[in-house]
Amino acid sequence: MNKLPKTGTIEIAPSILSADFAKLASEIAEVESAGVKMLHLDVMDGHFVPNITIGPPVIAKLRKHSKLFFDSHLMINEPEKYADAFIKAGVDHITFHIEVVPEPKDFIKRLHDSGVTAGLCLNPETPVSAIEKYASLTDMILIMTVHPGFGGQSFIREAAEKIKPVRQIVGPDIRIEIDGGINPENAAIVVPLGADTLVAGNAIFSKPNRKKAIEDIHKACR
Ligand code: DX5
Ligand code: ZN
Repeated sequence: MNKLPKTGTIEIAPSILSADFAKLASEIAEVESAGVKMLHLDVMDGHFVPNITIGPPVIAKLRKHSKLFFDSHLMINEPEKYADAFIKAGVDHITFHIEVVPEPKDFIKRLHDSGVTAGLCLNPETPVSAIEKYASLTDMILIMTVHPGFGGQSFIREAAEKIKPVRQIVGPDIRIEIDGGINPENAAIVVPLGADTLVAGNAIFSKPNRKKAIEDIHKACR
């Protein structure tokens, strides 16, 4: 079991959604050798979002090929029902959506008791008040800056306005992850607002040189 990187560092979590699914293991190896610590695994069920991606069987196979921190993002209905299968497959972290688990206290505790870290996610249209009561029970808050379902969408600047109020609620010891449309120029916006964990799919995997793409995002945060 890998541990979520301690706060105080800016981490980039490549999202596999924009990787070549026909050669996922080598795509992951490329970003792993570029020095990232986290891999963002976008799980979609075709109900919570209008797209379907991967599930526990694929993650279990990828687990054998990577030592990265598996940061799973469950864009699914009934995440409580499937959590054990994802943990058994080898995820190190489960982020689920407050829109489908409005009272997440027990679920967060169950995830911690199972040895994984827990994250709460809010869609662009979901107010910070929806997570206020529970945010401090988590290890990471994921703020969507696109409507979930697809990679390569444009960054929704208004959604980034939630970073500051979330940071005020959680303090310095809980990660704030931003997900959707992140590239060097948007990274330069969200980090000064208080984000420390950046998901990037298209900005990394659409480029031939993944290491340089990751470095460009890091440089923009300095
Ligand atoms: C969208 C996913 C995001 C997305 C990020 O539903 O949650 O992780 O793949 O990809 P880019 O960086 O291409 O927006
Ligand atoms: Zn995601």
